[in-house]
Amino acid sequence: MAPTTQTDSLFADGISVRLGGRGILSGLDIPPLPAGALVALLGPNGSGKSTLLKALAGLVPARAARLALGATDLRPMAAAARAHYLRYLPPGLPADVHLSVFEAVMVALRARPGAAPATNAARRVAAVLDELGIAALADRYLDELSDGQRQLAGLAQAMVHEPAVLLLDEPLTALDLNHQHHVMQILLGLAHERRILVVLVLHDLDMALRYADQALLLTHGALLAAGTPAEVIRPDHLARAFSILARVESSSLGHPHVLVSGLADSFHS
Ligand SMILES: Nc1ncnc2c1ncn2[C@@H]1O[C@H](COP(=O)(O)OP(=O)(O)OP(=O)(O)O)[C@@H](O)[C@H]1O
Ligand SMILES: [Mg+2]
Repeated sequence: MAPTTQTDSLFADGISVRLGGRGILSGLDIPPLPAGALVALLGPNGSGKSTLLKALAGLVPARAARLALGATDLRPMAAAARAHYLRYLPPGLPADVHLSVFEAVMVALRARPGAAPATNAARRVAAVLDELGIAALADRYLDELSDGQRQLAGLAQAMVHEPAVLLLDEPLTALDLNHQHHVMQILLGLAHERRILVVLVLHDLDMALRYADQALLLTHGALLAAGTPAEVIRPDHLARAFSILARVESSSLGHPHVLVSGLADSFHS
Protein backbone atom coordinates (compact mmCIF):
# COMPACT_ATOMS: atom_id res chain seq x y z
CA MET A 1 0.00 0.00 0.00
CA ALA A 2 1.02 3.62 -0.52
CA PRO A 3 2.70 5.37 2.39
CA THR A 4 0.21 7.28 4.48
CA THR A 5 0.23 10.61 6.25
CA GLN A 6 -2.54 10.98 8.75
CA THR A 7 -2.71 14.74 8.24
CA ASP A 8 -4.15 14.65 4.72
CA SER A 9 -6.41 11.65 5.07
CA LEU A 10 -10.09 11.99 4.22
CA PHE A 11 -12.26 11.41 7.29
CA ALA A 12 -15.95 10.65 6.78
CA ASP A 13 -18.00 9.53 9.77
CA GLY A 14 -21.72 9.39 10.35
CA ILE A 15 -22.69 10.26 6.77
CA SER A 16 -26.47 10.37 6.34
CA VAL A 17 -28.35 11.19 3.15
CA ARG A 18 -32.11 11.24 2.57
CA LEU A 19 -33.43 11.47 -0.98
CA GLY A 20 -37.05 11.42 -2.06
CA GLY A 21 -38.12 10.92 1.56
CA ARG A 22 -36.02 7.74 1.94
CA GLY A 23 -32.87 7.21 3.98
CA ILE A 24 -30.20 6.26 1.42
CA LEU A 25 -27.19 6.41 3.77
CA SER A 26 -27.77 6.20 7.52
CA GLY A 27 -24.81 7.18 9.66
CA LEU A 28 -22.25 5.55 7.38
CA ASP A 29 -18.72 5.44 8.86
CA ILE A 30 -15.88 5.22 6.35
CA PRO A 31 -12.41 4.27 7.59
CA PRO A 32 -9.89 7.13 7.15
CA LEU A 33 -8.72 7.15 3.53
CA PRO A 34 -5.06 8.20 3.25
CA ALA A 35 -3.60 10.53 0.65
CA GLY A 36 -1.83 8.53 -2.02
CA ALA A 37 -4.22 5.58 -1.96
CA LEU A 38 -6.31 4.13 -4.78
CA VAL A 39 -9.60 3.10 -3.18
CA ALA A 40 -12.19 0.98 -4.98
CA LEU A 41 -15.80 1.64 -3.99
CA LEU A 42 -17.75 -1.55 -4.69
CA GLY A 43 -21.31 -2.69 -4.30
CA PRO A 44 -24.44 -3.76 -6.13
CA ASN A 45 -26.66 -1.42 -8.14
CA GLY A 46 -28.53 0.95 -5.86
CA SER A 47 -26.28 0.31 -2.85
CA GLY A 48 -25.38 3.99 -2.46
CA LYS A 49 -21.97 4.32 -4.13
CA SER A 50 -22.81 7.36 -6.27
CA THR A 51 -24.75 8.91 -3.39
CA LEU A 52 -21.72 8.54 -1.12
CA LEU A 53 -19.37 10.19 -3.63
CA LYS A 54 -21.87 13.01 -4.23
CA ALA A 55 -22.29 13.47 -0.46
CA LEU A 56 -18.51 13.79 -0.08
CA ALA A 57 -18.43 16.33 -2.92
CA GLY A 58 -21.35 18.31 -1.47
CA LEU A 59 -23.59 17.57 -4.46
CA VAL A 60 -26.45 16.06 -2.41
CA PRO A 61 -27.66 17.30 0.96
CA ALA A 62 -25.93 15.24 3.64
CA ARG A 63 -25.38 15.26 7.37
CA ALA A 64 -22.02 14.17 8.74
CA ALA A 65 -20.58 13.75 12.21
CA ARG A 66 -17.20 14.37 10.63
CA LEU A 67 -16.20 15.18 7.06
CA ALA A 68 -12.67 16.50 6.84
CA LEU A 69 -9.57 16.44 4.72
CA GLY A 70 -6.80 16.38 7.28
CA ALA A 71 -7.60 19.28 9.61
CA THR A 72 -9.86 21.01 7.05
CA ASP A 73 -13.54 20.65 7.90
CA LEU A 74 -15.40 20.27 4.59
CA ARG A 75 -18.90 20.44 6.08
CA PRO A 76 -19.36 24.23 6.01
CA MET A 77 -18.24 24.36 2.35
CA ALA A 78 -20.71 24.42 -0.53
CA ALA A 79 -19.99 22.19 -3.52
CA ALA A 80 -18.10 24.95 -5.39
CA ALA A 81 -15.68 25.50 -2.51
CA ARG A 82 -15.29 21.77 -1.90
CA ALA A 83 -14.41 21.27 -5.58
CA HIS A 84 -11.10 22.95 -4.80
CA TYR A 85 -10.25 19.86 -2.73
CA LEU A 86 -12.43 17.09 -4.17
CA ARG A 87 -13.48 16.62 -7.80
CA TYR A 88 -16.46 14.39 -8.57
CA LEU A 89 -16.63 12.88 -12.06
CA PRO A 90 -20.10 11.54 -12.91
CA PRO A 91 -20.50 8.28 -14.87
CA GLY A 92 -21.27 10.03 -18.16
CA LEU A 93 -20.69 13.53 -19.49
CA PRO A 94 -23.66 15.27 -21.11
CA ALA A 95 -23.52 14.41 -24.82
CA ASP A 96 -24.96 17.75 -25.97
CA VAL A 97 -22.12 20.12 -25.04
CA HIS A 98 -20.68 21.76 -28.16
CA LEU A 99 -17.17 22.44 -26.89
CA SER A 100 -13.95 20.98 -28.20
CA VAL A 101 -12.13 18.59 -25.88
CA PHE A 102 -9.38 21.18 -25.44
CA GLU A 103 -11.92 23.93 -24.63
CA ALA A 104 -13.81 21.70 -22.20
CA VAL A 105 -10.68 20.83 -20.25
CA MET A 106 -9.55 24.48 -20.37
CA VAL A 107 -12.94 25.61 -19.02
CA ALA A 108 -12.59 23.10 -16.19
CA LEU A 109 -9.10 24.37 -15.39
CA ARG A 110 -10.00 28.07 -15.59
CA ALA A 111 -13.02 27.53 -13.33
CA ARG A 112 -10.69 26.83 -10.43
CA PRO A 113 -10.08 29.68 -7.99
CA GLY A 114 -6.55 31.05 -8.51
CA ALA A 115 -6.33 29.43 -11.95
CA ALA A 116 -3.01 29.40 -13.81
CA PRO A 117 -2.20 32.12 -16.41
CA ALA A 118 -3.45 31.32 -19.92
CA THR A 119 -0.13 30.11 -21.41
CA ASN A 120 0.55 27.80 -18.48
CA ALA A 121 -3.06 26.65 -18.62
CA ALA A 122 -2.78 25.71 -22.31
CA ARG A 123 0.37 23.76 -21.58
CA ARG A 124 -1.28 22.01 -18.64
CA VAL A 125 -4.34 21.04 -20.73
CA ALA A 126 -2.12 19.69 -23.52
CA ALA A 127 -0.09 17.68 -20.98
CA VAL A 128 -3.20 16.04 -19.48
CA LEU A 129 -4.61 15.16 -22.90
CA ASP A 130 -1.25 13.69 -23.81
CA GLU A 131 -1.04 11.70 -20.57
CA LEU A 132 -4.44 10.17 -21.26
CA GLY A 133 -3.46 9.44 -24.88
CA ILE A 134 -6.20 11.67 -26.32
CA ALA A 135 -4.11 14.55 -27.71
CA ALA A 136 -5.47 13.68 -31.17
CA LEU A 137 -9.00 14.46 -29.92
CA ALA A 138 -8.12 17.99 -28.74
CA ASP A 139 -10.02 19.77 -31.53
CA ARG A 140 -12.93 17.32 -31.73
CA TYR A 141 -16.27 18.36 -30.23
CA LEU A 142 -17.62 16.55 -27.15
CA ASP A 143 -20.98 15.98 -28.84
CA GLU A 144 -19.22 14.25 -31.74
CA LEU A 145 -17.23 11.77 -29.65
CA SER A 146 -17.88 8.14 -28.81
CA ASP A 147 -18.97 7.40 -25.24
CA GLY A 148 -15.51 6.13 -24.32
CA GLN A 149 -13.77 9.14 -25.88
CA ARG A 150 -16.12 11.45 -23.97
CA GLN A 151 -15.37 9.53 -20.75
CA LEU A 152 -11.65 10.10 -21.26
CA ALA A 153 -12.32 13.81 -21.88
CA GLY A 154 -14.26 13.92 -18.60
CA LEU A 155 -11.37 12.28 -16.82
CA ALA A 156 -9.07 14.94 -18.28
CA GLN A 157 -11.40 17.63 -16.87
CA ALA A 158 -11.21 16.05 -13.41
CA MET A 159 -7.44 15.41 -13.53
CA VAL A 160 -6.39 18.81 -14.85
CA HIS A 161 -6.88 20.37 -11.41
CA GLU A 162 -4.71 17.89 -9.55
CA PRO A 163 -7.12 18.09 -6.62
CA ALA A 164 -6.30 16.42 -3.31
CA VAL A 165 -9.11 13.91 -3.87
CA LEU A 166 -10.53 12.49 -7.10
CA LEU A 167 -13.99 10.90 -6.79
CA LEU A 168 -14.61 8.97 -10.00
CA ASP A 169 -17.98 7.34 -10.61
CA GLU A 170 -17.52 4.31 -12.88
CA PRO A 171 -14.70 5.86 -14.93
CA LEU A 172 -14.02 2.62 -16.84
CA THR A 173 -17.54 1.72 -17.93
CA ALA A 174 -17.36 2.87 -21.56
CA LEU A 175 -13.70 2.05 -22.10
CA ASP A 176 -12.13 -0.78 -24.10
CA LEU A 177 -9.70 -3.15 -22.38
CA ASN A 178 -6.61 -1.22 -23.37
CA HIS A 179 -8.03 2.08 -22.12
CA GLN A 180 -9.31 0.48 -18.90
CA HIS A 181 -5.82 -0.66 -17.94
CA HIS A 182 -4.24 2.56 -19.26
CA VAL A 183 -6.57 4.67 -17.10
CA MET A 184 -6.02 2.46 -14.02
CA GLN A 185 -2.26 2.79 -14.43
CA ILE A 186 -2.56 6.58 -14.76
CA LEU A 187 -4.75 6.73 -11.65
CA LEU A 188 -2.30 4.55 -9.75
CA GLY A 189 0.47 6.97 -10.78
CA LEU A 190 -1.60 9.97 -9.60
CA ALA A 191 -2.14 8.24 -6.27
CA HIS A 192 1.29 6.84 -5.55
CA GLU A 193 3.49 9.49 -7.17
CA ARG A 194 1.47 12.68 -6.70
CA ARG A 195 -0.19 11.66 -3.41
CA ILE A 196 -3.73 12.19 -4.71
CA LEU A 197 -6.44 10.15 -2.98
CA VAL A 198 -8.36 8.43 -5.77
CA VAL A 199 -11.73 6.88 -4.87
CA LEU A 200 -13.39 5.17 -7.80
CA VAL A 201 -16.55 3.17 -8.28
CA LEU A 202 -15.81 -0.11 -10.02
CA HIS A 203 -18.12 -2.94 -11.04
CA ASP A 204 -15.15 -4.94 -12.33
CA LEU A 205 -13.87 -6.72 -9.22
CA ASP A 206 -10.80 -8.03 -11.05
CA MET A 207 -9.73 -4.42 -11.65
CA ALA A 208 -10.13 -3.69 -7.95
CA LEU A 209 -8.12 -6.79 -7.01
CA ARG A 210 -5.39 -5.88 -9.43
CA TYR A 211 -4.96 -2.16 -8.87
CA ALA A 212 -6.62 -0.89 -5.69
CA ASP A 213 -4.83 -0.34 -2.38
CA GLN A 214 -8.08 -0.47 -0.42
CA ALA A 215 -11.67 -1.44 -1.10
CA LEU A 216 -15.01 -0.44 0.41
CA LEU A 217 -18.00 -2.70 -0.17
CA LEU A 218 -21.44 -1.11 0.24
CA THR A 219 -24.80 -2.88 0.47
CA HIS A 220 -28.10 -1.15 1.18
CA GLY A 221 -26.31 2.08 2.09
CA ALA A 222 -24.13 0.39 4.74
CA LEU A 223 -20.52 -0.72 4.75
CA LEU A 224 -20.36 -4.52 4.50
CA ALA A 225 -16.56 -4.72 4.38
CA ALA A 226 -13.48 -2.50 4.19
CA GLY A 227 -9.81 -3.35 3.89
CA THR A 228 -7.43 -4.54 1.23
CA PRO A 229 -9.14 -5.78 -1.95
CA ALA A 230 -8.21 -9.36 -0.98
CA GLU A 231 -9.85 -8.91 2.44
CA VAL A 232 -12.99 -7.42 0.95
CA ILE A 233 -13.44 -9.49 -2.22
CA ARG A 234 -14.10 -12.83 -0.54
CA PRO A 235 -16.68 -15.49 -1.35
CA ASP A 236 -18.81 -14.78 1.75
CA HIS A 237 -18.90 -11.03 1.08
CA LEU A 238 -19.68 -11.58 -2.61
CA ALA A 239 -22.52 -13.93 -1.71
CA ARG A 240 -24.03 -11.40 0.70
CA ALA A 241 -23.52 -8.33 -1.47
CA PHE A 242 -24.17 -9.66 -4.97
CA SER A 243 -25.96 -12.97 -4.34
CA ILE A 244 -23.37 -14.86 -6.34
CA LEU A 245 -21.40 -18.01 -5.68
CA ALA A 246 -17.84 -17.04 -6.50
CA ARG A 247 -14.26 -17.67 -5.55
CA VAL A 248 -11.00 -15.83 -6.15
CA GLU A 249 -8.23 -17.65 -7.99
CA SER A 250 -4.86 -16.58 -9.31
CA SER A 251 -4.31 -16.78 -13.05
CA SER A 252 -1.19 -18.27 -14.59
CA LEU A 253 0.13 -14.68 -14.70
CA GLY A 254 -0.33 -14.39 -10.94
CA HIS A 255 -3.27 -11.96 -11.06
CA PRO A 256 -6.29 -12.69 -8.84
CA HIS A 257 -9.64 -13.11 -10.61
CA VAL A 258 -13.19 -13.58 -9.42
CA LEU A 259 -14.70 -16.75 -10.85
CA VAL A 260 -18.49 -16.89 -10.65
CA SER A 261 -20.01 -20.36 -10.53
CA GLY A 262 -23.63 -19.32 -10.13
CA LEU A 263 -26.26 -17.20 -8.43
CA ALA A 264 -27.01 -17.60 -4.75
CA ASP A 265 -30.42 -16.02 -4.24
CA SER A 266 -30.75 -17.50 -0.78
CA PHE A 267 -27.79 -15.42 0.39
CA HIS A 268 -29.38 -12.12 -0.61
CA SER A 269 -29.43 -9.89 2.45
N1 LIG B 1 -32.47 11.72 -6.48
C1 LIG B 1 -32.89 10.61 -5.87
N2 LIG B 1 -34.12 10.56 -5.28
C2 LIG B 1 -34.54 9.45 -4.64
N3 LIG B 1 -33.81 8.32 -4.53
C3 LIG B 1 -32.59 8.32 -5.10
C4 LIG B 1 -32.07 9.45 -5.80
N4 LIG B 1 -30.83 9.15 -6.26
C5 LIG B 1 -30.60 7.86 -5.88
N5 LIG B 1 -31.65 7.37 -5.18
C6 LIG B 1 -31.75 6.04 -4.60
O1 LIG B 1 -30.66 5.86 -3.71
C7 LIG B 1 -30.19 4.52 -3.75
C8 LIG B 1 -28.71 4.55 -4.03
O2 LIG B 1 -28.50 5.08 -5.33
P1 LIG B 1 -27.04 5.26 -5.92
O3 LIG B 1 -27.19 5.97 -7.21
O4 LIG B 1 -26.18 5.88 -4.89
O5 LIG B 1 -26.61 3.74 -6.13
P2 LIG B 1 -25.28 3.14 -6.77
O6 LIG B 1 -24.66 2.26 -5.75
O7 LIG B 1 -24.45 4.23 -7.34
O8 LIG B 1 -25.88 2.21 -7.92
P3 LIG B 1 -25.36 1.92 -9.44
O9 LIG B 1 -24.31 0.84 -9.32
O10 LIG B 1 -26.59 1.41 -10.10
O11 LIG B 1 -24.87 3.19 -10.03
C9 LIG B 1 -31.01 3.80 -4.83
O12 LIG B 1 -32.02 3.06 -4.19
C10 LIG B 1 -31.60 4.94 -5.63
O13 LIG B 1 -32.86 4.56 -6.17
MG1 LIG C 1 -23.95 4.78 -9.25
